[in-house]
Amino acid sequence: MHSNSENASLYVAQEIASLIRQRQKQGKMAVLGLATGSTPTKVYDFLVKFHRKEGLSFKNVICFNLDEYYPMQPDSIHSYVRFMNEHLFDHIDIKKENANIPDGTVSKEEVKTYCENYEKKILNAGGLDIQILGIGRTGHIGFNEPGSSMHSKTRLVRLDRVTKLDAASDFFGQENVPSRALTMGVGTIMNAKRIILMAWGEGKAQIVQEAVEGEIRESVPATFLQHHNNCDFILDEASASFLT
Ligand code: F6R
Repeated sequence: MHSNSENASLYVAQEIASLIRQRQKQGKMAVLGLATGSTPTKVYDFLVKFHRKEGLSFKNVICFNLDEYYPMQPDSIHSYVRFMNEHLFDHIDIKKENANIPDGTVSKEEVKTYCENYEKKILNAGGLDIQILGIGRTGHIGFNEPGSSMHSKTRLVRLDRVTKLDAASDFFGQENVPSRALTMGVGTIMNAKRIILMAWGEGKAQIVQEAVEGEIRESVPATFLQHHNNCDFILDEASASFLT
């Protein structure tokens, strides 16, 4: 637990930077699983700062984002491609071909093969070294809503009503929020060697308590993380306040 989200984000950014540096020394790629939303933005700010001030290079980084709305054009203001470019990719030296985000423009006919290939690409890269996560009020990780199986893989899913409600202000009304998304599965996330879930603020306190202390069940997908042997919840005081 950290006193605030700034300190907590610095801690997470330092762990990511040290993995990247370690892999650089070994002449290997670091494979990162990345998230969007309000939670990881300060981590990205710190990574950009490390790049500018300390010369941290991302040339040996390959990354995979968790999810994207579907359908979604990459240049839309709601697109996670645009989000990642604005918050991270445009400000570091990552090779654009190494920055993978589920493609919200694939046709319905292609979507199954596309998702299978996304999985293969992660495996071919050597698997995710670190996956960072936020958590939704429904207990979703990525866009794995209640009912998602622990072994689920990258696929097209339907968003929960609560998730759409939470996204409504970004989309200027709930009716404009896409009903579907492409997301890595719970199984994809669980295969990461290290998982860091971050949560800030009292609005997350209830679901954090359920995820950490609740019975492991499909109706709260984040509870599956209890099965992972190298997963930490990085919290500020407010989001940790319901933990016993
Ligand atoms: C985003 C994602 C989601 C968010 C979650 C929390 O890529 O996968 O699971 O992490 O909805 O969103 P924020 O951080 O906006 O509270």
